[in-house]
Amino acid sequence: MYEWIKAFHVIAVIAWMAGMLYLPRLFVYHCAADKGSVQSETFKIMERRLLRAIITPAMIATWLLGLWLAWQGPDSRYGWFASGWFEAKLVLVLALSALHGFIARWVKDFAADRNRHSAKFYRIINEIPTVLMIGIVILAVVKPF
Ligand code: HEM
Repeated sequence: MYEWIKAFHVIAVIAWMAGMLYLPRLFVYHCAADKGSVQSETFKIMERRLLRAIITPAMIATWLLGLWLAWQGPDSRYGWFASGWFEAKLVLVLALSALHGFIARWVKDFAADRNRHSAKFYRIINEIPTVLMIGIVILAVVKPF
């Protein structure tokens, strides 16, 4: 059972990360499209669908399956919560979830033609999920402490 849940956890993680890496890239292109243009309206649809149909459900699934795994960990009372790698992973995963919240807000801003940031800003933001993902996967797989 544990191994099955872990497999579905990793599948949910892949769907979540795919969207988290792609949406800021869409924002970079969206910045270059004139407000009201066909291109801009197409980006709005792509962004809304990606957020609602993929990354928000994938984030919820990742959390539910991950927390279930965490309670089944080796410590009889605290599961994986008693392990250093897991506590560090939790911090990075909370940061990723906060970024998810910001991305959801930016999708809403673009939808209302009220984007307040530059293409360069979204280019920098685009690096954050990559760095967090590298840290999280190393902690979860290598468990260095
Ligand atoms: C959202 C909250 C999350 C929680 C509570 C959580 C929790 C867990 C737990 C308890 C395990 C089992 C570890 C083991 O059995 O060795 C696990 C496995 C794993 N998690 Fe997460 N996780 C979360 C999010 C993520 C994210 C965002 C990623 C990647 C970006 C990720 C990547 C992985 C990987 C690759 C494994 C497999 C590790 C292995 O089998 O060696 N997790 N997760």
